[in-house]
This record gives sequence, structure tokens and C-alpha cells, in this order.
Amino acid sequence: MKWGICATGTIARKFASTIREMAAEGEQLVSVGSRSAQGAEAFAAEFGIPRAYGSYEELFADPDTEAVYIATPNSLHYENTRAALEAGKHVLCEKPFTLTAAQAEALYALAREKGLFLMEALWIRHLPLYEKLDALLAEGILGKVTDITCDYGFIANGARRERKFVSRLGGGALLDIGIYTIGFADLVMKDAPDSFTSTVHFSEYGTDDDSRICLQYPGGRSAVCVQTIGRELPRHAHIRGTKGEIFLPDFQAAETMELRLTGQEPEVINAPFDINGFEYQIREASRCVAAGRCASARYTPDQSIALMRLLENIRKDWGMVFSCEE
Ligand SMILES: NC(=O)c1ccc[n+]([C@@H]2O[C@H](COP(=O)([O-])OP(=O)(O)OC[C@H]3O[C@@H](n4cnc5c(N)ncnc54)[C@H](OP(=O)(O)O)[C@@H]3O)[C@@H](O)[C@H]2O)c1
Repeated sequence: MKWGICATGTIARKFASTIREMAAEGEQLVSVGSRSAQGAEAFAAEFGIPRAYGSYEELFADPDTEAVYIATPNSLHYENTRAALEAGKHVLCEKPFTLTAAQAEALYALAREKGLFLMEALWIRHLPLYEKLDALLAEGILGKVTDITCDYGFIANGARRERKFVSRLGGGALLDIGIYTIGFADLVMKDAPDSFTSTVHFSEYGTDDDSRICLQYPGGRSAVCVQTIGRELPRHAHIRGTKGEIFLPDFQAAETMELRLTGQEPEVINAPFDINGFEYQIREASRCVAAGRCASARYTPDQSIALMRLLENIRKDWGMVFSCEE
């Protein structure tokens, strides 16, 4: 597919380098848009992109671009995705898809109306290890799943800290990385939680920097998710059931897991990435577009909207309103 990239920051670079590795599969980067012409040109020169635009509007108007990858800060996803869809482009938009469930619903409805593909780029949903995990859980390998724990923590410093926390850009640990821990719980539980409780700490920016969220799922199951951008925490996840547990040493860049059944030797199960893990969501977008589908069946609009609703409800519970929403 012929891709355009909206913005030239950290994750845009990862996306560009991944697409470059996928040329043999027919993926191409044909355009990039930035707030500055200089930024777009430098990015285009580095990644060999034929067309560089000094505004997102010009990028969306590029006639040769089929799909746009939105890599702007959280608070801009809604308006950038809307503008790209209005211009007739398929869209893969970075996580968190939007700030509210209503925004997410509006975008998926617009994509359907226009017959365009739209997906939130929650890349972990497409990893091959999770297909294996799904199959194991579906065959009841753990018996009844009872609970999950999932942690994600790192220390954000300097400019990165400002960017990750600032309220006007929709900052804070919940939307930055809690979306992965809670997204992981969703992926395993395949249900929306009935209720949640949480503890939270706020940074000097007025957004959350450390929280512990306990989700209660139907059938008495639970998940405890810890997300922090103030301390290092390995990205460990445990899925416990009545017959044993599955341990993932890194549930985000998930290439390996250990099956620990009661009374048996542990078994390591691997599913290494072809490139860096981003390729699976890109392939899914291309497959869906080729098949004329507006949405992915692997990560559906309903799942993405439900996740936005849960994150929004957690923020409401905390009384955390972004300055860009006031
Ligand atoms: N999937 C993942 O693994 C992953 C990892 C990191 C981040 N993300 C998501 O990707 C998005 C971007 O994150 P990032 O880490 O790439 O951020 P970043 O390095 O700060 O880049 C964001 C880019 O957005 C553009 N932008 C437009 N308006 C801006 C504003 N007011 N302030 C700052 N930048 C602005 C800028 O590009 P131009 O100047 O070129 O317009 C900037 O380079 C976020 O939503 C984040 O949650 C995903």
C-alpha cells in the first residue's frame, strides 16, 4: 500500500523504518507531512520518501497517497484522523485512538460512511504470540482464568517528560502506557470489566504519573494493571488460572511466554517478530484495504471504542480533565 506519514516524531521514525523493511511485500512510503516544511524535507531525505509537505492538510490532499499513519500527540488524533478521512484516505492512527469514546465512535462511523479503512494502531493486538496465547486459552489450558497482573513502567526525563505529561497534549501514564496494560487485560479477558477501583498519583503537570488499577470482570475474574512513567518496572504479565499460569516477561514486545502448569515442567513458547512487531498491524491494514474492508476483525472498532470508554471512565473517576478538553 502507498503510505503517507503525518508527523515526524519518535514513533513516525519507527513506522518509516518498518515500512522500509517491507518493500518486498509491496509497502511503500510515498509522502510525509509535518508542521514545518524543513522537518518534512529532512525526514523525507532520511527515509527516501518522494514527497514532503509542510502541513498535514497538504499531505492528506496528496493524490497518490492511499493510507495515512497518524503519529501526532494524543490530543490531535481526532482532528487529524477526521481530516485524513474527509480527504478520502484510509487511516491507521496511533494509540490512544482518541481522548473520548464519543470521538472514537464518530471516527469509525465516518470511515464506514466513506467506505474507508480505519484502525487504532494498538500494535500488540496483532502479534503472533497472542494468536498462540488465544489458542491455548481457548482450549482451556489454564482451566478457568482467575486473574491477571500486568506492569509497565519507565522514567521519562527532559523534553520527553514534558511531552509525555503535558495536559494540553493529552499526557499522562494512563493514555501513554496504561492503554497497553489495560489493552492486554482486554485481550485476555475478552470482556469489558464490570467495575474498577484504582489508586493514582499526579505529577506537577496535573496528569497521572503512577497508578494501580484493579479491574473486575464477569465471572469473578480480575486484573491488576500498574502503569508509571516515574519508575522502572519490567513489562511482566502473569495470567493465572485454576491449572497453572502463563508468564510473559515482556507483554508489550511479546515474543515469548512460559507455560507453567501445576505439577509439570515449564514450557517456553516463542513467536519471534519478522521485523520489530510493527509489521503485523501494517499487514493487517493492507489486507483489509485490499479486501475492501472498513475495519479489522482482529482489532475491531467496538473493541477500540470500549477501550477508549474505559480509559475515559478511569480519568473521570480521577477527576482528570485535560486542558485541551476544557
Ligand atoms: N505504538 C507505539 O509503540 C508508540 C510509541 C510511542 C508513541 N506512540 C504514540 O504516537 C504518538 C506520537 O508519539 P511520539 O512519541 O512519536 O511523540 P513525539 O516524538 O513528540 O512526536 C510527535 C510529533 O507530532 C507532531 N506534532 C504536532 N503538533 C504537535 C505539538 N503541539 N507538540 C508536539 N508535537 C506535535 C510533531 O511532528 P511535526 O513537527 O513533524 O509535525 C512531533 O514530532 C502519541 O499518540 C503516542 O501515544 C506510540
